[in-house]
Amino acid sequence: MRLTCTVNGELCTVEDVRPGESLLLTLRERIGLPGSKNACEEGECGSCTVYLDGEPVCSCLVAAGQAEGRSVRTVEGLATGGELHPVQQAFLDAGAVQCGFCTPGLVVAVHDLLHRSPQPSDAEIKEALAGNLCRCTGYQMILDAVHRAAAAGVQP
Ligand code: FES
Ligand code: FES
Repeated sequence: MRLTCTVNGELCTVEDVRPGESLLLTLRERIGLPGSKNACEEGECGSCTVYLDGEPVCSCLVAAGQAEGRSVRTVEGLATGGELHPVQQAFLDAGAVQCGFCTPGLVVAVHDLLHRSPQPSDAEIKEALAGNLCRCTGYQMILDAVHRAAAAGVQP
């Protein structure tokens, strides 16, 4: 089947998408955007989080066909003109990236949180990121990254 959708602001047509193929696989294997990670592929870890029409979703649980005519924004789409987004930079500066498998999903989830709540409390952050699992950092550095990003100000 043919899929046509907008990905990171550009109209994108993909041929030969299999029925039931996940949006995550389509993004990574057919569109060439490997930022979203395939850790569990069961909706448990959040490493595959992307925006679909502005709402964060686990792209491993979304059939590619569900994106037809819609807008997808991935972690790659947050950077502009070769510059990291402040949320991406904050993760680096806080040392919140170790193996990096959780990072793309966390960055998208934090980006979404800061648009809803520009100066979130630790409790708000923990609740917002409850669906994003990290095996490496112990989460304190992720909290630090969110506060750094909040201090830098929210940008679209
Ligand atoms: S890969 Fe999608 S939730 Fe883990
Ligand atoms: S940095 Fe390794 S899972 Fe989070």
